[in-house]
Amino acid sequence: MTTVSEFKPGLEGVPVTLSSISYVDGQKGILEYRGIGIEQLANQSTFLETSYLLIWGKLPTKDELVEFEHEIRYHRRIKYRIRDMMKCFPETGHPMDALQTSAAALGLFYSRRALDNPEYIREAVVRLIAKIPTMVAAFQLMRKGNDPVQPRDDLDYSANFLYMLNEREPDPIAARVFDICLTLHAEHTINASTFSAMVTASTLTDPYAVVASAVGTLAGPLHGGANEEVLTMLEEIGSVENVGPYVDHLIATKSKIMGFGHRVYKVKDPRATILQELGEQLFEKFGHDEYYEIALELERVVADRLGQKGIYPNVDFYSGLVYRKLNIPSDLFTPIFAIARVSGWLAHWKEQLTKNRIFRPTQIYTGSHNETYIPIHERNCAINLEGETL
Ligand code: ACO
Repeated sequence: MTTVSEFKPGLEGVPVTLSSISYVDGQKGILEYRGIGIEQLANQSTFLETSYLLIWGKLPTKDELVEFEHEIRYHRRIKYRIRDMMKCFPETGHPMDALQTSAAALGLFYSRRALDNPEYIREAVVRLIAKIPTMVAAFQLMRKGNDPVQPRDDLDYSANFLYMLNEREPDPIAARVFDICLTLHAEHTINASTFSAMVTASTLTDPYAVVASAVGTLAGPLHGGANEEVLTMLEEIGSVENVGPYVDHLIATKSKIMGFGHRVYKVKDPRATILQELGEQLFEKFGHDEYYEIALELERVVADRLGQKGIYPNVDFYSGLVYRKLNIPSDLFTPIFAIARVSGWLAHWKEQLTKNRIFRPTQIYTGSHNETYIPIHERNCAINLEGETL
């Protein structure tokens, strides 16, 4: 019999899998993908090479990488029926909802559930990594009333996404910075959306349902949705002088400061450090951002007020400033997080399949027993479960 003392809200600290995909040390601020430090991957790898590493567990040879990149390039286009379906989405809908629906729709076209066939696994991986950016960019253009732009085969993964989004070829530095952002967001152990992907995967459903489920989970403001909220918060604060009173008000009303705090990290998230450096590079090249001064002051004030609780910037704090400098609208920040995290979700999907057991946790029942059903015509006033009239 399970006891209340065994219950861990939010499953905090409860191991749910054995995994060799990524590693976090929240006290030392270390993040590794397949044993390689995130700083090395950010500096030296590309998003597609890192995705290969995460999903197949090793760095690709030159030939393997060329082949993988070629397959992704080949599968970037989306079917006109998916485009037509997306045209019917309301332009006021959130792009994460559009992405969740479109990702699920891929399952209508490609689902075979041949989960024991490595070719099927590879095809699904390639299709999802290739098509998700095209769907995000297509929704962005269609909600503005424009036709989507077709992917360009001469551009690499990140440059092509920025091209499809802005209808012009990006500056190479902007494309490289964006690619590093994708690498930084590609994987992060058993967070909420990855767990959601694993639970869905454990039923042996198709990978499009796995990704759609994870996208829906990522959308929430306590998870991937925080990056969008950070920018709203910086806007609300408006000036460096307002930072102190703003933070004090949030603390006094027990509200969360977006972009701060993490279940695992009790120091500054290493990805936030790299994103901050990337932001500074962009400001140097393309001009300053007034919100950066507010963000710096916010980091200082929060460390002063909440540092003893281990509340420091997480990955979502500086990413919005980087994307803003790349002219990306704020409600696309979370879909971009999803573009990156698809690789991590797929790595966990693949790992889950190698040792699958369906997730079926338990509960501690706190309700009553042996209640009597009262026919509706006798329920002329509200009655609680103890039968008392309210
Ligand atoms: N602002 C103010 N106080 C905070 C914050 C924050 N952002 N985060 C945690 N705290 C405080 C809590 O109030 C709590 O204080 P208490 O012990 O005095 O009650 C303590 O720190 C522990 O907080 P929990 O909410 O229990 O921590 P948990 O591990 O459950 O939550 C989470 C982690 C959800 C990320 C939380 O820090 C948060 O809501 N942050 C803001 C939203 C955000 O930035 N999310 C993105 C996270 S990164 C990602 O998902 C990609």
